Amino acid sequence: MAKVMILVASVREGRTGLPVAKWVERELSSRDVEVDFADLKEIDLPFMDEPNHPAAQQYTKEHTKAWAKRVAETDAFIWVTPEYNHSFTAPLKNAIDYLVHEWRDKSVAFVSYGGQSSGTRGVAGLGETLGYLGLNRTVANVEISHPWGHLTDGGEFEGTGPMNEAMKATIDEIVNDADSHAKNR
Ligand SMILES: Cc1cc2nc3c(=O)[nH]c(=O)nc-3n(C[C@H](O)[C@H](O)[C@H](O)COP(=O)(O)O)c2cc1C
Repeated sequence: MAKVMILVASVREGRTGLPVAKWVERELSSRDVEVDFADLKEIDLPFMDEPNHPAAQQYTKEHTKAWAKRVAETDAFIWVTPEYNHSFTAPLKNAIDYLVHEWRDKSVAFVSYGGQSSGTRGVAGLGETLGYLGLNRTVANVEISHPWGHLTDGGEFEGTGPMNEAMKATIDEIVNDADSHAKNR
């Protein structure tokens, strides 16, 4: 079975990223894929500290070996990310920088969120990096403006009509891409 990783790109206390990512997980749960919920706060990678260029895959630290294995076993990704100061978050870029080959020729879908921009500048800022690593952006994606206004009293994120439609299209595409990747392994 194909494996999809949901990656939570913000790590600060009280982050909105967690309830948004849990919503993604709920929406994905009815599909025929294995889901890996990868919370960068829990994974807690230090700033990239390997002595060798990651393209050499000569990893020396246990945290790198574990992260490399997890990403290598993934067929496609959903990255849940805000923008910080009109760019991507530092924890997300740090997690990317640990690896090279493990990302290659895989699809990534974005669920971005923020103010009026819905986090889209953070995604756009990753363009060069995605191109170099051979990560292919899906056509469908989810862009959420002011997600904190969609939290229930219990702290769960609830999508509305257009958001749910975008989520369905995004999940359709990423599951399809994950299946194709898994078949060609
Ligand atoms: C350091 C920082 C920088 C931010 N920069 C932006 C920004 O450039 N554009 C934007 O729309 N919102 C910005 N915001 C507001 C975020 O969209 C909002 O706080 C969001 O919930 C952040 O995601 P998180 O809660 O998962 O950390 C920023 C928030 C933080 C903490």
